[in-house]
Amino acid sequence: MAAEPALAAPLADRVVVVSGVGPGLGRALALRCAAAGADLVLAARNEERLAEVAAEVEKLGRRAVAVPTDIRDEAACVRLADTAVETFGRVDGLVNNAFKTPPLEDLATVDLDAVRAGFETNVLAALHLTRLLTPALADRDGSVVMINSAVLRHSRRTYGAYKMAKSALLSMAQSLATELGPRGVRVNTVAPGYIWAPNLKWYFKQIARERDVPTRTIYEEAAATTDLGRLPEPDEIADTVMFLLSPLARAVTGQCLDVNCGEWHH
Ligand SMILES: NC(=O)c1ccc[n+]([C@@H]2O[C@H](COP(=O)([O-])OP(=O)(O)OC[C@H]3O[C@@H](n4cnc5c(N)ncnc54)[C@H](OP(=O)(O)O)[C@@H]3O)[C@@H](O)[C@H]2O)c1
Repeated sequence: MAAEPALAAPLADRVVVVSGVGPGLGRALALRCAAAGADLVLAARNEERLAEVAAEVEKLGRRAVAVPTDIRDEAACVRLADTAVETFGRVDGLVNNAFKTPPLEDLATVDLDAVRAGFETNVLAALHLTRLLTPALADRDGSVVMINSAVLRHSRRTYGAYKMAKSALLSMAQSLATELGPRGVRVNTVAPGYIWAPNLKWYFKQIARERDVPTRTIYEEAAATTDLGRLPEPDEIADTVMFLLSPLARAVTGQCLDVNCGEWHH
């Protein structure tokens, strides 16, 4: 991992809501924002994981409130937004990280209901949550970050439904940046490629087993496709999000930052 940013606590005493606190990027987002000085509102469906991550945030000396939420449930999102404001009195940042993998199948045959379901979580729920938190964010010159994907940069077979959802999410972020800019709210996107986290580690282990080679070989083959010759760690992606949430990025809105060790250029 590259050196830590030199500036201390860029999110000091800010409040950040993270949707989709899973074991990979979601957890890293919570912990890196806490390390940068933020208090956290953590949302996902798995209560046990939320509690674990909340405890980790508290170990870093920050406050965390875990709000079990299915972001497709509009009433649950209202509860989440209300809890954030009631608990902390303000919201400075929102990270829309929650994600449902759309079916990995060619568009020619993919089930349209499954594509719709992907849009529901990956696009419309993120819009709904952003709308609910906009008044609070507007009071604080707040910042929204949408977590996207390197799927934006290619059109490989079976990724069509995934690309459609993430392309809509990017368009939405750009339009929101224009709509919310006059209210002082910035909206940006971070697009990771590989993330060297539990899911990918598990997947590489499966491939290694099938090919009867060490997992390290699979890692090295993937890493060779990046300029830096390695795969990004969750914390490295989270730090870019943290930057966009922070006042360090106060003149940045409507942008997409790719965090992929140089796998794709854009
Ligand atoms: N992993 C990768 O290699 C990769 C690559 C490029 C981009 N990305 C992007 O990075 C982001 C994070 O991916 P990740 O793999 O690291 O996952 P993660 O942050 O470990 O977990 C995401 C979490 O989203 C939650 N979620 C899903 N549907 C939800 C819903 N309806 N309501 C609330 N929460 C929901 C799930 O938790 P619950 O089941 O507890 O709700 C899941 O654990 C995603 O936006 C993804 O598209 C990932």
